[in-house]
Amino acid sequence: MLIVFAVFTAGFLLVRADIITEAPVGQLFVYELHREVFQREFEPFHKVFGQVYNDPMVFKCNKERFPDLPRWLRFTQRDAYDNGFLYGTPLPRDQGRNIIEIFVINKRNYETFKERLVINVGPAVKQMPYQAEFFIELREIEKVLPAAVQAEIKLDIQNLWRTSRLEFVNITSALDRGGRVPLPLPGYFEGVYVKLGSDQPFSPCMLRLETAEHQRECASGGKISGDCSRCTNPINCITWCKSTLFDLSKPVPPAPLPTVGSGVLAWGGEFSPPESPPDRDFFPDYIVTVIVPLALVLILCLILSYIMCCRREGVLKRNAKTPDLQLYHHHTIQGDASELRRMAGGDRRTADRPRQCLQPLLMAEQAMAES
Ligand SMILES: *[C@@H]1O[C@H](CO)[C@@H](O)[C@H](O)[C@H]1NC(C)=O
Repeated sequence: MLIVFAVFTAGFLLVRADIITEAPVGQLFVYELHREVFQREFEPFHKVFGQVYNDPMVFKCNKERFPDLPRWLRFTQRDAYDNGFLYGTPLPRDQGRNIIEIFVINKRNYETFKERLVINVGPAVKQMPYQAEFFIELREIEKVLPAAVQAEIKLDIQNLWRTSRLEFVNITSALDRGGRVPLPLPGYFEGVYVKLGSDQPFSPCMLRLETAEHQRECASGGKISGDCSRCTNPINCITWCKSTLFDLSKPVPPAPLPTVGSGVLAWGGEFSPPESPPDRDFFPDYIVTVIVPLALVLILCLILSYIMCCRREGVLKRNAKTPDLQLYHHHTIQGDASELRRMAGGDRRTADRPRQCLQPLLMAEQAMAES
């Protein structure tokens, strides 16, 4: 029964349909990878037995048949016990089907599971000529991406902008913008930039951001008078001095055209090749580097061969010149020394028993006994 159930479930997993989502150009796309959804895929039977797991999981995401994600899409996951997020803003050149492979690795039993996410990037649905970027100091990117938090932040900005027609354009961690990694202590945050867009013009209060007075106040770091932002949740408060407006409603003046010349280079005179360098005499160098070492080697060779061939005595010649008695004397000295060495080596029994020295003593004792 259980086996049939297992085969059935496995078959069901194999024919799982891809997840299909839409992402319009110019708007923030966020896809949350819920750990509890994948937990069900890993342990389909444990529900039967009432066991509930909360496994650490990591996600590896890439574009199908590519090593990395498409350039507009980014992935983040703080911890193996947190959900992962795929997020980014597609540009007009990114339109089309993006197939993302998601590998889920269960860090408890090292099972893996593969999922396909199809993102259809379509043309822009909303014109947002007015855009503004705000810096939220007390947040981290993973904490801002969930839809509920996005709604909270949007509500605050709606009050500031005095319109409800707002859309997120981009959310970026300050780390991706050159920010510093905070200390791993409570109360230190990476900071997040959020960019929102609308078809409604900026409120008069927001327009204060563009005045020279605002810039002066922010540069001096003193009291900020124009801040009209309000935050219902203190951790969503924006930093007024780091807010920027982007007015895309005015047409951008085209870049000045490059000036076209006559197309003919100016006459630069006749070409005269450089003179060849003067001749150099290499003979002294040759003598110093080749002849002198060679001569030295030759002299050393001669000295050495004279010593080896003409100054050697040889064992036979030496023995012939030495008297026999002296030869015998030195021979026994050598033998005694090696015998002593052998005995010192600890092996006394293998040493020859003393003979010649004891013989006269024994004989003298015998003579005394006889007399
Ligand atoms: C969103 O922000 C990232 C990081 O700053 C940037 O690379 C990207 O171009 C932005 N996208 C848009 C559409 O502004």
